[in-house]
Parts: sequence; structure tokens; C-alpha cells
Amino acid sequence: MKFGLIGAGRIGRIHAQNLCRFLTDVHLKWVTDVFEASARDCAEELSIPEWGTDYTKMLNDPEIQAVVVCSSTDTHTQIIRAAADAGKHVFCEKPIDVDLSQIDQALQSVQQAQTILQIGFNRRFDVNFDRIHKAVASGEIGTPHQIHIISRDPGPPPIEYIRKSGGIFLDMMIHDFDMARFLTGHEIIEVYAVGSVQVDPEIGKAGDFDTATVLLKFDNGVTGVIENCRKAVYGYDQRVEVFGSKGCISADNRVPDQVTVRGSRNIHTTLPLHFFIERYQESYIEEMRRFAEAIRLQLPSPVSGEESRIPVVTAMAAQRSAMENRPVKLNEIA
Ligand SMILES: NC(=O)c1ccc[n+]([C@@H]2O[C@H](COP(=O)([O-])OP(=O)(O)OC[C@H]3O[C@@H](n4cnc5c(N)ncnc54)[C@H](O)[C@@H]3O)[C@@H](O)[C@H]2O)c1
Repeated sequence: MKFGLIGAGRIGRIHAQNLCRFLTDVHLKWVTDVFEASARDCAEELSIPEWGTDYTKMLNDPEIQAVVVCSSTDTHTQIIRAAADAGKHVFCEKPIDVDLSQIDQALQSVQQAQTILQIGFNRRFDVNFDRIHKAVASGEIGTPHQIHIISRDPGPPPIEYIRKSGGIFLDMMIHDFDMARFLTGHEIIEVYAVGSVQVDPEIGKAGDFDTATVLLKFDNGVTGVIENCRKAVYGYDQRVEVFGSKGCISADNRVPDQVTVRGSRNIHTTLPLHFFIERYQESYIEEMRRFAEAIRLQLPSPVSGEESRIPVVTAMAAQRSAMENRPVKLNEIA
């Protein structure tokens, strides 16, 4: 299968490398980026035959079966629609968009084209979180009562990224909103969010929070808490716990080695894997493998557009809750 990739930035380079090195049934034929140097460098590094600045040229290539969209969030739905109209399957990074009407139009184009759209909620494909998902679904910890998700970055992205990101709830916590429903198997109905600026005043000036805590209420009475911060001095902090009637299951941070150093004053372990590129490397390969498999075997999308719209609604409710200082029901948004 021949694929093309749009947006050779932080995550685009990861997907490009994975497609070239780990997906034996996929040939990455094209890479495009509005910055010519980014597209050219990526093509040269990975021996990708075609590159350019205009993705529409790539969409006109009849050999291209699917495109991987890794450009900034504000371009996603426009590209999904153009790709669907050209009959291409799409893997698109999260979030689909920050505007529900744009999302709905894009989903309609995909529906009409009968193509596959998969959204990049890669954490579902992490071995630890997949194990938690299966434990909860099989009843291993009984009826789930509470979920706690901690998700902190080692440092904030550039301020230009923050300005285009849609804010901490839509850009960062969106992964955790998706994980909360994926792990519990239930729908969030209400959120109460508080946000603050603790890390960088520039983020506040851009109209965003860098630290946020959200209380979740689910349709079956489960409650949850999600904590996000753009900076944790000890590195990427990714922990999950689900507590239920028959027990509790949790995943701690993953570390690069299993070494413990014992001294006369302290006992040390190694810091967590530094950031998403290191921590979620296998999950990025696995989500792409599943995308290729869905195309090859004509399976439903492993993470559909319709399902991926829900965390966007949740994030919007959290944003409103933080601004209005009150709990917000999701049906107030959509
Ligand atoms: N799933 C994850 O773990 C994960 C991690 C990081 C980023 N993301 C998502 O991926 C997307 C990109 O994030 P990033 O951190 O790689 O950003 P980035 O700024 O590093 O890269 C984006 C790239 O897209 C290019 N671009 C912008 N508009 C374009 C267009 N119209 N055509 C072609 N190229 C275009 C930019 O020049 C840039 O090189 C965002 O939506 C972000 O939310 C997901």
C-alpha cells in the first residue's frame, strides 16, 4: 500500500519513521509540508521518493491509498475533507478539529466517500493501558467506581504551538478524556474544571492555562479526576488508576531501565521516559499497523471519527466549566 504524509513536524517525523522502518506492507511515497525544508529533509532522511509543499498534488496521485495527517490542528478537517473527496483513507492526528461544525462536515465527507478515518488516540494502543482496559472490561476489578489519570509533560511546547493548539483541554487533556471513556467503558456526562497558570505567564497571555484539574461524572455513577500540567521537573508523568468493587488496577510511569541504586542516604530509580516520543513509541507503531490492517482487510476504523468527536465535546465542556467556574453537562455543548 502506498501512503502519503502531511506535516513533517514533531509527530509527523515519528509517523514517517515508523511507516518507513516498521510497517513492511506500507510504502511511504510522499511527504508534504508548507515549509519546503521540512518536507525535503524528511524525504532525504527516509528516502521518500516524492515531496513538496502542496498536499493537493499528493492527493491527485492515483497510487496513494491513504494519507497520514500530522499538520497543525487548524488544518485537519480541511485536509480530511479533501482526502475523502479524493477517495483516500485518512489517519489524522488528534484532535480532529476544535470546531464541531467543521468536524461534522468532515465526518460527512468520510461517510459519503466510504473511506476509513482513524484519529490518533495512540494511548489506547499502549500495552499498559490496553491491559487496564481489558481488566475493567472483563470484570477483573469488579464494577469500576473511580478513575484517576495523571498526565504531565516535561516542558511546554513553543508558544506558537500553544496559540494554534485550541488550549490545554483540547490539545493535551483530550487524550485523557478519550482514555477515561476507553478505560471505564462508560460515557462522561458532566465535568467540573479548574485551570491556572503556574508554569509560564506567556501561556496565560495567550489565553490558555498550563495547569488544569477536572472532576468527571460518568453515566453509571463512576467518578474520576484528571490532572494535567505542562511542566513536571522529573519528566513525562503518565499514570492511571481504576478502582473497583473487586480491586484496583494501575499503571505507573515507564522507565528506560529497571535499575535501583541504593546509597547511604537515598534510594534512586531512573527518571521516567522523557516525553511522548520515547514513552509512546510502540503505541505509535501499533496504531499505524492497525490503520494499515483496517485498510487491507476492510475492517472498521480502530478509532473512528464519530468516537473521536466525543473528547472534543468533553474538552469544550471543561473549557466552559473553567471559564464559568461551575460544573457543565456535556449535553450543554452538543
Ligand atoms: N498523538 C500524539 O501523541 C501527538 C503528539 C504531538 C502532536 N500531536 C498532534 O499532531 C499535530 C501536529 O503537532 P506537532 O507537535 O507535530 O506540530 P509541529 O508544529 O511540530 O508540526 C506541524 C507541521 O505541519 C506543517 N503544516 C502546517 N500546515 C500545513 C499544511 N497545510 N500542509 C502541510 N504541512 C503543514 C508545519 O509546517 C509543521 O511542520 C497536532 O494536531 C497535535 O495535536 C499528537
